[in-house]
Amino acid sequence: MNDRKQSEAVFVIFGSTGDLAKRKLFPSLYNLYLKGSLTEKFAVIGLGRREWDDEKLKTVVREAITEAGQQMDREEQIDSFLAHFSYLSFDVTNKHSYEELKEEMESKEERFHLSGNRVFYMAMAPEFFGQIAQSIHSHGLKETNGWTRLVIEKPFGTDLQTAKVLNNEIREAFAEDEIYRIDHYLGKEMVQNIQVIRFANAMFAPLWNNRHISNIQVTSSEKLGVEGRGGYYEKSGALRDMVQNHILQMVSLLAMDVPLQLTTDEIRSEKIKVLRALRLIDQQNVNDTVVRAQYDEGTINRTEVPGYIQEENVDPNSNTETYVAAKLMIDNHVWAGVPFYIRTGKRMAVKSTKVVVEFKEMPLNLYAKEHKATGPNLLIIHIQPDEGITIVLNGKKIGSADTTPVHLEYRHDSEDRINTPEAYERLLYDCIMGDATNFAHWDEVSLSWSLVDAISNAWKETDQKPLTYKAGTMGPKEADKLLAIDGHSWWPVEHM
Ligand code: BG6
Repeated sequence: MNDRKQSEAVFVIFGSTGDLAKRKLFPSLYNLYLKGSLTEKFAVIGLGRREWDDEKLKTVVREAITEAGQQMDREEQIDSFLAHFSYLSFDVTNKHSYEELKEEMESKEERFHLSGNRVFYMAMAPEFFGQIAQSIHSHGLKETNGWTRLVIEKPFGTDLQTAKVLNNEIREAFAEDEIYRIDHYLGKEMVQNIQVIRFANAMFAPLWNNRHISNIQVTSSEKLGVEGRGGYYEKSGALRDMVQNHILQMVSLLAMDVPLQLTTDEIRSEKIKVLRALRLIDQQNVNDTVVRAQYDEGTINRTEVPGYIQEENVDPNSNTETYVAAKLMIDNHVWAGVPFYIRTGKRMAVKSTKVVVEFKEMPLNLYAKEHKATGPNLLIIHIQPDEGITIVLNGKKIGSADTTPVHLEYRHDSEDRINTPEAYERLLYDCIMGDATNFAHWDEVSLSWSLVDAISNAWKETDQKPLTYKAGTMGPKEADKLLAIDGHSWWPVEHM
């Protein structure tokens, strides 16, 4: 099928009145339309509990496009884009709603001359995901001449058990290759670049193992707090919110073996092997390998901010972690002995996602005594807010016999980034093209839940409270000890 034919589809958005649809989905669809990746042959049916009508949805979509800063001067284009939208007030538990949706899809397919491709996008409360998927099936909404795909937002369960139940429910209605589990980190430019950097460069590929790499550090820090999501976050915490998905996805991309080919199956199979080799963290080793903490009041952008337990909808005695640091070990031949240190948290000093690959030092450091000691070579992958890479080498200081670190930098400049698609735009495009490589396979989801469950069960068994860190800092100092014990320290991503 050619690309044009592929991109013909009806998009059914469950949760179209919500924040995600407004901030991410509508602007991304609009961008795809502007670029011609979506032709005139598409329709969007927004669903929600609210009693909106088509006009109300269109007003919200227009606002979303404007707020995303997208070409306000293109009124005509926006109008023709909006002509593809309609709204249905929807009750996920009512069969009439599904019947109405079926009619609406069919009428849109006729009006826009579509071939029956259907994307069902779940951008709403996760408790209904399973039920909706099954109702889509049982009410014949998958009976079409085209393909049908189900896009599922996180959280995919709250632990392995609930994830399994959800997976079984959706698998009764959709085959694995019709399910697109979104992890928006997999749509980020520099996360996608990890594979290219690793597999297309002779200067890295042969060194990417425990003979040459000393440790790998993955940081994803945020300045924001829980932003009115206290209710959700209380049950999730940083471990489920960030580690189970985004961080473990990055670790698997960093540690996977070279795939035989760049196909979805080959790439996923290598990533899955990494997750299978992750050393389990349990009651015995949790205190030596994981640090959890909660932010206390502090200062962010020169403004006083409250501590986590003072946030709205948060229990004043809450044990929920807003910060996690951990040492992960991958027990296979390539990575034995190389720690992967990860950390993520809210209300930290900077918004930054970076990977630092620290190479082993020269076996004999000729420069150590007489001259300023050299440091290890580093490869820094800047994922956000900057995008690019830095390679840190040792060089000679000009006019002196001393050595000095030399930084070779490649950062995407603003011009490169103007037309860079946002993560969601890329992922939506991949979904309509039928490319599931940058979506999580069930095996990845279940293996990461196994690790996360083991950690959270170990925490449940202890009566220790999480540590605290001051808002606006890089987390508790105990996280330094995780590395210090191995003779390492965190590279200061806030200054890199
Ligand atoms: C989401 C989490 O998945 O990722 C949020 O639920 C978090 O709590 C967000 O803020 C971080 O995404 P990004 O792209 O801003 O790093």
